[in-house]
Amino acid sequence: MQESSLLLEWIQVLHSYLAYIVLVLLFLAVANAITGLVSNRMFTMGKDLRLSLFTLILSHIQLVVGLILWFISASGFSAIKTLGMGGMNSAARLLAVEHPFVNILALALITIGWSRHKRFMEGKKKFKSIALFYGLGLVLILSRIPWAQWFN
Ligand code: HEM
Repeated sequence: MQESSLLLEWIQVLHSYLAYIVLVLLFLAVANAITGLVSNRMFTMGKDLRLSLFTLILSHIQLVVGLILWFISASGFSAIKTLGMGGMNSAARLLAVEHPFVNILALALITIGWSRHKRFMEGKKKFKSIALFYGLGLVLILSRIPWAQWFN
């Protein structure tokens, strides 16, 4: 096997497995923020901060891995180049356009949620920022996962 296709395969596997971790973390961070908000408890520097920060870091790592994949995989930028926007079917468009761009938007929302939470002193507002922006990010990500390809 050529070195370049081995690298591609390695990055595809990494992106595929990291997706499980990112989705589970996002789900936990949103659930934790909602329960924190509902129970009106303090935002702790231990569990609450660590969970939100760890989720932010891993989703950014996934963003970088996804960007690399988009440039080197035949399903990414090169699909747009060879087929053109009008020449792609819905499955190809999902991988090359919708999944990457909606995920970049989702990551921007998650980053906004993290930055906003730091501006507040009150636990309630911190939890609200995480719950809302991480939650919106999670919904966007879930809306554009290539499910069929992932579980194939
Ligand atoms: C948190 C964000 C993301 C999640 C959870 C995620 C998840 C996934 C999953 C589950 C797959 C299918 C993997 C498989 O077939 O086994 C995939 C494929 C892909 N993703 Fe992402 N992704 C994310 C962000 C991104 C971003 C930001 C980009 C690009 C800018 C990107 C580019 C791609 C590409 C090009 C493929 C197709 C790879 C190929 O078939 O060669 N992803 N992603």
